[in-house]
Amino acid sequence: MLQIRLTASVWPLLCLGAYAASSSEASLYQSKLRVADNIQSAMLASIRTSWEQGTAAGATLEFDDPEYSVFGPSPFVCDGKFPLSTLQLAYSAAVRQSSDGRLSQEIGDALDGAALDGASAGSAVLLGSFTDASRRDYWLNAANAQLNFLLNVAPRTSTGAISHRIDSRQYWADGVYMGFPFIAYFGAVTNNATLLQIAYDQCRLYRDALILDGPTGKLWGHIYSDDTKAWIDQGIWGTGNAWAALGMLRVAVTIQKTEHSSTMVSQISNLTSWIKEILDGEFAALRSDNLVPNYIIGGSSTPDAASSAALASVAYRVAYLCPQQFGKNYTDVAAKIRDAIVDNITNLGTLQPIVDSLPDPFPYWNKTGLLSTESQAFGLMMFSAWRDWIAA
Ligand SMILES: *[C@@H]1O[C@H](CO)[C@@H](O)[C@H](O)[C@H]1NC(C)=O
Ligand SMILES: *[C@@H]1O[C@H](CO)[C@@H](O)[C@H](O)[C@H]1NC(C)=O
Ligand SMILES: *[C@@H]1O[C@H](CO)[C@@H](O)[C@H](O)[C@H]1NC(C)=O
Ligand SMILES: *[C@@H]1O[C@H](CO)[C@@H](O)[C@H](O)[C@H]1NC(C)=O
Ligand SMILES: *[C@@H]1O[C@H](CO)[C@@H](O)[C@H](O)[C@H]1NC(C)=O
Repeated sequence: MLQIRLTASVWPLLCLGAYAASSSEASLYQSKLRVADNIQSAMLASIRTSWEQGTAAGATLEFDDPEYSVFGPSPFVCDGKFPLSTLQLAYSAAVRQSSDGRLSQEIGDALDGAALDGASAGSAVLLGSFTDASRRDYWLNAANAQLNFLLNVAPRTSTGAISHRIDSRQYWADGVYMGFPFIAYFGAVTNNATLLQIAYDQCRLYRDALILDGPTGKLWGHIYSDDTKAWIDQGIWGTGNAWAALGMLRVAVTIQKTEHSSTMVSQISNLTSWIKEILDGEFAALRSDNLVPNYIIGGSSTPDAASSAALASVAYRVAYLCPQQFGKNYTDVAAKIRDAIVDNITNLGTLQPIVDSLPDPFPYWNKTGLLSTESQAFGLMMFSAWRDWIAA
């Protein structure tokens, strides 16, 4: 089970089971900060769709404004600091909100077919409501409209899961990061236990629909249609599993930081075990180049730095949040992945090799790509998690 990350003076006493990061890790981290900056600037320089805007905001929050990320000690109240770079990304998401409530929609032809993707910027938008007093109502209205879309407008599957798509009922592993951390965060900020439970239930329903027995253990298939009761992409996709782990981790940590954590022990514990399931299955597929394959089955098995970075970030987080369950073997893998990625960043700050984040042709994410916002965001999340693990 996840522990609350307490204040600096109390936390180390509870942390005795953790594998302490050495001071050489701290100096290694310092020596690579320029790489992190280049990863971030390439992320911010890239043209972005709705899910990428939200993911970039989330990665920026963790890197630039960690006290307000759900991994910070008391993230749901203002500590006086203005989270400028996160709110700059959130502002664009809110300015481009569609009338149905989805954030970051009004770009290009505004035909984003996703129901959940816009919500990936929801937490950053709601953060504005208590850190930017001059626009309190603006941020709150935008976040409320986005929440209303998720709860009352988006299609539901036969089990009550919020569909990832707006014109059909589909489960995508990606949705677990896009939609559910925002619902939990809204619950935490407004002290609403119903929303915390909904966020958990949505993770549970998505896992129930997508979990498969893979060659390296239980992992998530990518896309299942509830309309036709058939898989659209049954492949075990690294990035899909990474989205699921990233999302469940944020939901679990958010619940843990509220006063409702003591009545939601079973929910937190289940989320933790489902995160472990993904790390175990994916890390068992680690290649000799220390990256996980793009697909474990059902698609191209080329090395993928993007999902590898995301999974390494999750491993660093759980290693200090629940050291009883995640031993040194998780951060050892994370360090191998980190070195493989950091030593191979291009002179433009881009991660490589990566999968093209757009399917070609749908629904095949087989092709390697040159740049994706999500890859860059995952790289930055890996740096933030590495930093926080060192400091824990
Ligand atoms: C919690 O959120 C739900 C969904 O928005 C809402 O229906 C309910 O009234 C809220 N409960 C409280 C106590 O605010
Ligand atoms: C947690 O998972 C167990 C085993 O699948 C299940 O029996 C239990 O109902 C789950 N708890 C919650 C709160 O969903
Ligand atoms: C780490 O070791 C534990 C205990 O031996 C094992 O259950 C788990 O699967 C291992 N995980 C990884 C990623 O190596
Ligand atoms: C994607 O890769 C898988 C496995 O290599 C292959 O079976 C499938 O035909 C590929 N699809 C496309 C459209 O390239
Ligand atoms: C670095 O990236 C290039 C381009 O994707 C790839 O061919 C090469 O194998 C990578 N090197 C390592 C050591 O992973």
